Amino acid sequence: MSIGEPYDLTTAAVQALEEAGGAGALPATAWAPGRCTLVGEHVDYAGGQVLCIAVDRGIAVAVRPSATARYLAASGGLAVTRRDAGPVGDIGDRALAPVVALRNRGLSIPTIEVGIAATLPAGAGLASSAALIVAVTTAILRMLGETLTARDLAAVALSAERDVVGVPCGPLDQRAVIDAPNGGALLLDCRSGGETSVPWPWAEVILIGCDTGVQHDVGGVEYRRRREETESGLEALGVTSCQDLRAPAIDSAVLDPAVRRRLQHVMGETRRAAEAAEALRRSDVDALGGLMSASHRSLRDLHEVSTPALDAVVSAALAVPGCAGARMVGAGFGGAVVALVTSAGAAACRSAMAAACGGGRTFELRPSPGLAVLAPDVVRG
Ligand code: GLA
Repeated sequence: MSIGEPYDLTTAAVQALEEAGGAGALPATAWAPGRCTLVGEHVDYAGGQVLCIAVDRGIAVAVRPSATARYLAASGGLAVTRRDAGPVGDIGDRALAPVVALRNRGLSIPTIEVGIAATLPAGAGLASSAALIVAVTTAILRMLGETLTARDLAAVALSAERDVVGVPCGPLDQRAVIDAPNGGALLLDCRSGGETSVPWPWAEVILIGCDTGVQHDVGGVEYRRRREETESGLEALGVTSCQDLRAPAIDSAVLDPAVRRRLQHVMGETRRAAEAAEALRRSDVDALGGLMSASHRSLRDLHEVSTPALDAVVSAALAVPGCAGARMVGAGFGGAVVALVTSAGAAACRSAMAAACGGGRTFELRPSPGLAVLAPDVVRG
C-alpha cells in the first residue's frame, strides 16, 4: 500500500479480484485520485491553461499475474476475461489498456488479473478513466519493481486512453491525477507542458459535487466534434494555442459561426484559468467562484457542452447563500456539477443541488495529492 492510499478501498479491490479470480498470488495495489477542473474546461486540446485539483475520491486496484493465461478485470460484481489485452468494448478495456501501452514502451508485462473498487462516480466528468488507467499502470509497475518519471507515467496513461482505447482526449486528466501537489491546485499550461502549484488556502471552503446521473461519453461524437471545430478554427487563424487568440482576429475572420463560438470559448476560458489561479493565490473565494460561474456560462453558450439538467443544478447551487460559484465539470453532455461553497453553506447547497436533479447523488470534494506524491516508490522525481 502506498502513502495516503485509502485502506478500505484497497481491500475492496483485492476482494473484487479474489471473488472473480479466486485466491492467488499476493496482488500489488495502487490508488489514484480523480480530477476536478476549477476553471479551464475544453482548452487542454487547444494548448490552453487549466486550473485543476486532484480529489479525495478515486479508484483502487489490485493487480497480480494471471495463473490461467487469461486476462481478468473485475469490478462491482462484474468480471470479464479475455485472451488478449486489447479493447473489445467492455469494462475491461480501460483496466487492461496499460498492458498494451507499457508493452509499446518495451516493457515485458505478463498476463494480468485486475480487481477494481471506486469512490469516484464513473462518467461524471471527474476523470474516472484516467484514475483507473493510472492506478493500473502504477500497480503493474509496482508488481514488477519498475519506476517511471511523472512525465513518462502521464505519457503511458495518455497513450493507453488515446491510442489503445481510442478516446480523443487531451492531456489534462492524466497530468492532474499524477502531478497534483499535496494540498493545492495545479495550473497546467498545455502549450508548454509546464505547471505551477497553487496552495489551497482555505479549510472552510470545499467543493460539492452533484452527479446528474446522465453518463457522458468522452469518446462520443460531440466531444470529438468540439475538438475538431476548435482545432480547425485555430488552424484557420494560424495559431497553435488558444493562448494566442485575440478577439479582433476571431471577429474579422471568415469562420463557420459554430467554430467562431468555440474559439471565443477557448480564448476566454484559458484567460479565466490564469485569473482563477491568481484568485486562489490571494484567497479570494468570491473571485474564484465568479470565474467558475463564468466558465459554466461559456461552456453552455459558446462551447455548447452543457445540458438543461446541468444548468438547473448550477442555478440551484448559486441561489444558496455561501455558494461562491458553480459549473459543470469535465467534458459535459451530462455528468456532474461542482459548486464552491463555505462549509457553513455546504448542507443547504447539497440539498438544493440534489433537489434540482431529482435527488441526484451529492458528495464533498477536497484537494488530494496526485500519484507523484502518493507513490514515490513508482514515480521517480
Ligand atoms: C475530458 C478529457 C480531457 C478534457 C476535458 C474537458 O475529461 O479527457 O482531456 O478535454 O474532458 O476539459
